[in-house]
Amino acid sequence: MPRFILSLLFVLTLTVSYAQKLQLTELTTEYQRNPIGIDITTPRFSWKLSSPARDVMQTAYEVRVSNDDKSKSVVWQSGRVTSDQSVFIAYSGAPLKATQRYRWQARAWDNKGNAAPWSEVQFFEMGLLKPTDWTANWIEPAIPGDSVNSPSPMLRRTFDIKKSIASARLYITAHGLYESFINGKRVGNQYLTPGWTSYNKRLQYQTYDVTTLLRNGSNATGVLLGDGWYRGNLAWGGLKNIYGKTLGILYQLEITYTDGSKEVIASDDKWKASTGAIRRAGIYYGEAYDARLEKKGWAETGYSDADWQGVNILSGGKENILAAYGPPVRKHETFKPVKIFKTPKGQTVVDFGQNLVGWITLRVKGDAGDKVTVRHAEVLDKDKNVYLENLRAAEAEVVYTLKGGGEEVYEPHFSFFGFRYAWVEGFPGTLTADNISATALYSDMTPTGNFSCSNALVNQLQHNIQWGQKGNFVDVPTDCPQRDERLGWTGDAQVFCRTATYNMNVAPFFNKWLKDIAADQRSDGAVPFVIPNVLGDNASASTGWADVAVIIPWNIYQAFGDRRILENQYESMKAWVNFMESKSKNDLWNTGFHFGDWLFYRPFDDNDGRSAVTDKYLIAQCFWAHSTQLLLNAAQVLGKTEDIQHYTAQLKKIKEAFIKEYTTSSGRLVSGTQTAYVLALNFDMLPEELRAQAAQRLAQNVKDYGNHLTTGFLGTPYLCHVLTRFGYTDVAYDLLLQQEYPSWLYPVKMGATTIWERWDGMKPDSTFQTPGMNSFNHYAYGAIGDWMYRTVAGVQESAAGYKQSRIAPEPATGKLTQATAELQTMYGLIRSSWKIDNGIYTLDVQVPPNTTAEVVLPRAAQQRVTEQKAELTAAKFTSEKQGENLKLKLGSGVYHFEYNWQ
Ligand code: BGC
Repeated sequence: MPRFILSLLFVLTLTVSYAQKLQLTELTTEYQRNPIGIDITTPRFSWKLSSPARDVMQTAYEVRVSNDDKSKSVVWQSGRVTSDQSVFIAYSGAPLKATQRYRWQARAWDNKGNAAPWSEVQFFEMGLLKPTDWTANWIEPAIPGDSVNSPSPMLRRTFDIKKSIASARLYITAHGLYESFINGKRVGNQYLTPGWTSYNKRLQYQTYDVTTLLRNGSNATGVLLGDGWYRGNLAWGGLKNIYGKTLGILYQLEITYTDGSKEVIASDDKWKASTGAIRRAGIYYGEAYDARLEKKGWAETGYSDADWQGVNILSGGKENILAAYGPPVRKHETFKPVKIFKTPKGQTVVDFGQNLVGWITLRVKGDAGDKVTVRHAEVLDKDKNVYLENLRAAEAEVVYTLKGGGEEVYEPHFSFFGFRYAWVEGFPGTLTADNISATALYSDMTPTGNFSCSNALVNQLQHNIQWGQKGNFVDVPTDCPQRDERLGWTGDAQVFCRTATYNMNVAPFFNKWLKDIAADQRSDGAVPFVIPNVLGDNASASTGWADVAVIIPWNIYQAFGDRRILENQYESMKAWVNFMESKSKNDLWNTGFHFGDWLFYRPFDDNDGRSAVTDKYLIAQCFWAHSTQLLLNAAQVLGKTEDIQHYTAQLKKIKEAFIKEYTTSSGRLVSGTQTAYVLALNFDMLPEELRAQAAQRLAQNVKDYGNHLTTGFLGTPYLCHVLTRFGYTDVAYDLLLQQEYPSWLYPVKMGATTIWERWDGMKPDSTFQTPGMNSFNHYAYGAIGDWMYRTVAGVQESAAGYKQSRIAPEPATGKLTQATAELQTMYGLIRSSWKIDNGIYTLDVQVPPNTTAEVVLPRAAQQRVTEQKAELTAAKFTSEKQGENLKLKLGSGVYHFEYNWQ
């Protein structure tokens, strides 16, 4: 075959294979793969592009959606759209129908002339969209004396299926927590359902595909209920029955038969009620389970419920019901005992090696009536005995009474525990590692980021931050998981949010919680301290806490490019900013109660004013400005012209008032604390000409405290960012690597496996801070993670969602020799990995397709830089010197830079 035919064929195969290699991957609907039971009527489609080539940009896309039934009729076809948008493409076809299943596909074209083929078929299924879609009614167990802390109600009914089933969906929610069963099998793998929302305003239902659990002939279903957040003890002062006194369910099982007909098995008067083995279950209490009272086969056919009670049918109660949005709570890592030992007090204790949130699983053999009690502790005291005082009024125990007659396996249902140690009493025989394990429970967020470096303590700090996030993202972002609190503290969530966006895809999680913020926000715009709000309307409007309503929507938009979160939250954001304006006088907001820079550094017996007390109204003015700025940003994204004008003017006045009220003519602030300077600098409160001296004062203050931070909850998240921004990155590294109290590494040195509430939760002599408020699993101080990703490893967004990113690691000589961060963005993986070795600096970078990046090579301006061992040429890279650094513009691809480190 003549040579030129051969080479023609070769080029042809090459182009075809290249073309073939442009593909759409990881297609999602509203962040999920093939979701069922959604009630978003304009769901948004996203995908990632994959291509071996560099500099790949999408130039056009097409989406098609059709009914996923025999008709396969098309309900929306976008046609070829010239656009590089590949995330959050909103459905805009014919109105979507309740319970209808739809299939969709997408394809795209790139700037290299390649056409990606239609993607694999995806689907999404709508849930129940309006109150009238619910034909079921609320039912409540008619159990005499049922009330909070009484035995868990059980509900059951039977039904017959006479035709062959095509599919079946269970739509269910409850007042209280529920677990449901069909023919003895547990439905789904979600826990603590229906989750925690502001129930009277927003109550989620879940949807399960139960097709395989049903059978022809007789069937049975059962639902177990627990007090949960609905009526259980919450907060303090004996608060209970917050949302209602009686538990209940709304249960709608929709069966579609192969002949196309449908049948609904609903919560109605055919249900029966009783109680069983769960004698008491509460979020703080834990669970008492008496296996002798188990009702074997209660959720199966052939079980006699003759002596069961009936149910009460309620009308209404469906207006506030909505489809669950966000990651359900699921089981994750399982831990085996790393050690089982006796304490000096003779307590039998299991060490799981990690302070986690979840529960234990017991495997035990013994006599009927034997009682095993398990208590959960985060730490041991200085004498190595179990320490429970910091749980305060939370019993946090499991009491399991054996039924005897063989091995029994038990795990709780309606509570969760924050613990590393399990103190086991009454175990029949010798407790071994086969008898007990621990399971972590948390919202099933997709992990997205990892950070590591050449310092083992800093790596442990990253580990502790991630486990703090796992332990406190249990359907709502809580302050802590172990004591009689575990509330959705707003301040903690806002300071930690940006770090959280690196470690996991928290967008759906916060999408859901932010709607509760808006729901519980006061009509005058004040935002409560905790969400869902269980502390009353007066517990609202603290600066730094209430700003969650503005800061988190903006952070999520920045990290994921999710414009709809700004659309959804805009009125709530504006209401908070307007609240501050309404409380201000002469452009100063200096009234009302504020937590201030919570848990700032305060030495014991401070006689000479070493405590870092920052004026709370100075802080309030700073956050007023910050929230106004972020609201302005959101108004710009959403094109709210009028608001842009108003808030631009407002912001100017806020800052002018700040300077007049809180700064001296030489630029000194009325509070000389690190937090005061950090907030004033981070939020640009000071005019340009006063900033450098203010930053110098901050750096000097760090030195004055012996290279220690003194910041509390509000100053800590921004401290290192401000030091870096004003050229004190080495000081920031000193703080990161500081191992003495107060610092991030001191707890690590003391053996922490999560983030502590206080800088000195455990003192160097192993005694503890006050038990009244001393959690060893509080993520607020984990906000340093953001600086580790952003500055140490250098991964930053420069356009929302990392459509454009900035890779600008700032190594400081003699501090670390290596750091790596990986972040799975909505577009794909970003990777930054640098190393200083033998005087050579190397940087490996990965930029996902359909995005671009700016890379800053530190101290490279005067160096001979190579990429993949080849000299950097202008032909290949647009570069610009920036002081001693070299800035490059990159398209997608994998890169390796190298040069002398001087
Ligand atoms: C919580 C904190 C919260 C603080 C506000 C504490 O009880 O644990 O997380 O931010 O109160 O005062």
